[in-house]
Amino acid sequence: MSRTLLLLLLLLLLCGPAAGRPPPAATPRLKLAFPELRARHGLRLFALERSCCYEALLLDEERGRLFAGAQNHLLSLALDDISQRDRKIYWPAPVEWREECNWAGKDITAECMNFVKILHPYNRTHLYACGTGAFHPVCAFVEAGQHAEEPIFKLDPRRTEDGKGKSPYDPRHAAASVLVGEELYSGVATDLMGRDFTIFRSLGRRPSIRTEQHDSRWLNEPKFVAVFWVPESEDPDDDKIYFFFRETAVERQQGLGKTSFARIGQICRNDVGGQRSLVNKWTTFLKARLVCAVPGPDGADTHFDELRDVFLLQTRDKRNPLVYAVFSTSSSVFQGSAVCVYTMADIRRAFLGPFAHKEGPNYQWVSYQGRVPYPRPGMCPSKTFGTFGSTKDFPDEVIQFARHHPLMYNPVLPHGQRPLFLQAAVPYTFTRIAVDRVTAADGHYDVLFIGTDVGTVLKVVSVPKESWHRMEPLLLEELQVFQDASPITSLQLSSKRQQLYAGSATALAQLPLHRCGAYGKACAECCLARDPYCAWDGTACTRYVPNTKRRFRRQDVRNGDPNVLCSEDPRRGSVPQKQLYGVEGSTAFLECVPKSLQARVLWTYQRTPDDPQREVPTDERVVRTERGVLLRSVQRADAGLYLCHATEHGFTQPLLRLSLEVIGARQAAGKAPAGDPQLAAGPPGRKVWYRDFLQLVERPPLGAADRGCQRLWSRGRPPPPPRVPAGAPGRGQGAEPRKARRRRTHEGPRAERGPRSASPW
Ligand SMILES: *[C@@H]1O[C@H](CO)[C@@H](O)[C@H](O)[C@H]1NC(C)=O
Repeated sequence: MSRTLLLLLLLLLLCGPAAGRPPPAATPRLKLAFPELRARHGLRLFALERSCCYEALLLDEERGRLFAGAQNHLLSLALDDISQRDRKIYWPAPVEWREECNWAGKDITAECMNFVKILHPYNRTHLYACGTGAFHPVCAFVEAGQHAEEPIFKLDPRRTEDGKGKSPYDPRHAAASVLVGEELYSGVATDLMGRDFTIFRSLGRRPSIRTEQHDSRWLNEPKFVAVFWVPESEDPDDDKIYFFFRETAVERQQGLGKTSFARIGQICRNDVGGQRSLVNKWTTFLKARLVCAVPGPDGADTHFDELRDVFLLQTRDKRNPLVYAVFSTSSSVFQGSAVCVYTMADIRRAFLGPFAHKEGPNYQWVSYQGRVPYPRPGMCPSKTFGTFGSTKDFPDEVIQFARHHPLMYNPVLPHGQRPLFLQAAVPYTFTRIAVDRVTAADGHYDVLFIGTDVGTVLKVVSVPKESWHRMEPLLLEELQVFQDASPITSLQLSSKRQQLYAGSATALAQLPLHRCGAYGKACAECCLARDPYCAWDGTACTRYVPNTKRRFRRQDVRNGDPNVLCSEDPRRGSVPQKQLYGVEGSTAFLECVPKSLQARVLWTYQRTPDDPQREVPTDERVVRTERGVLLRSVQRADAGLYLCHATEHGFTQPLLRLSLEVIGARQAAGKAPAGDPQLAAGPPGRKVWYRDFLQLVERPPLGAADRGCQRLWSRGRPPPPPRVPAGAPGRGQGAEPRKARRRRTHEGPRAERGPRSASPW
């Protein structure tokens, strides 16, 4: 394994476009920091005092509520604004349980609490919730009312149930479950030590049923990630429940150490266990490997095996949702995360393929070539495939075969045979995913919201490249939704309300799915973003609403060509201008930062408007930086017209026209710069600026280079925004003076840009 990885890494290094460096990570088009999202883009937060761990989220569109489970609490929040009108239930573990937990050697304040892990809709009036109950799993029915405005939210603490096999004991373990028809299907550890793992059905009227115990072929130290119910035909008897998990691979060759594989497991909803053997155990359980890998030469694929999260995207056909899964690598050599997509057709094909077989302890796993008994294990007893009324009617040989062959030989491969999106060589990993199918002017697009372990959300759209068979991911936004960089542990999305909800150990966050205005004020910027939520409406970049007739609506997610879309833009060709002064022998900084982080900046220079434009050459004296061009020791010959252009997606647009005037050092000390059109009618505060200017010329401060000259020479620039104190609550974030804000937004392409921390101020 590690040898193939090394080989691949080597190949990447040798053959990659940037030889000698790891493969470049995708850059988001827009990067928005926490304070900016908070102040301008509707980021809302909720946190309880003396609680944590917002792991279980339940989105309820009908009631208009977001239900959440946290440490010792259940929450009901308004979907429109989670920071308003909250309702809470305090649900701690009883004192006796906490003491027992403490005697068992657990930490009384960190572990011996009730961490709510499971929250499902149960019936029209109630939810079903489970928590760890201080290593004593517990469940309860929660009354939530029937309508949006019914202010009911309560739990009867005397009517709680045993949560064994439903919620994990250990707060560090995740729980995966689904509630279907008043029955709970869960994948969980059923003992205090966290060794006996099971896929378990409970609640409802039928007897509980589980996986075979202590058989590593069935489950081998699994970590459950998600469970879904997917119908297979019109007949509910064919309904299946799919379990997603990762586990230690049994089929891995010995001597190579423990390897984690991602799995998908299936069971029939109408499985009631066997008659003589596998009594109250699943008779239809099968599992297959879920592969997410980058194909390499000679089979040296890079595998992403650590399954982290799964999102089921419903399509018009209920039987064929799309499965979006997030993975990371388990290797210490190569670190990265990936998103792979699977179709139900490919999943079903793996379960209809050959079974994996191992003759004895000293044999290899092979594809089973013998006769498979009828009905084929994994098939549900239904009218569709035979005459069996129940799994109890299955012949003994079917039960025996099923018991010894839970693993399929063929893995499930991702759509397109490779990840849809991957990030390597970045200081974070993906943790959660939610997907929205968006209708745009030129078709449907799946927009991915990916949570990371550093409190950010990546927004990615997958667009066809050349044809609809080859998709290309575009990283639109990187959004810092949690200030403290805590890992995102839950993610929910409401298409109806166009909002995203995220949970972490410290808080819950709510954010709109789009911020079209943030892409810029020009048609070309809107169009180049290729965000299916956004379109140019003739005057601004705004939310694209399908089926509304408006004359000026420009959107082309697939091609994003502003030459075609923005030819009528009245502002096309108007470029912001700036006048700059440099003192001979001193430094000058020509700043120009495109709004899009994916744009490449090109600088051209002409001495007079009649001269041809040529590219600004760089050397030891003229240095290109991330934010512009630094002229060290300005010379008279540097005076002239500088034009900053941004090139992106094959399209070049001018961003800024800078006119640099160079004054001799002596001359500067003696008089004010001439030719400033703004000088006479300048805003107040100008005198201060002028005095600074002279002081600097007479006595250049130490290390004045970037800081000083940028502050003093680049005249068109507004004062730096006041720093917002970290952690300042709510409205205080908008504390920046209104005047400064307005001035900045008038300043052209570099207004409202990205994280402040990147600024040299
Ligand atoms: C929902 O389930 C709860 C708990 O079993 C029960 O008390 C309640 O009556 C049920 N509500 C409806 C509408 O069936």
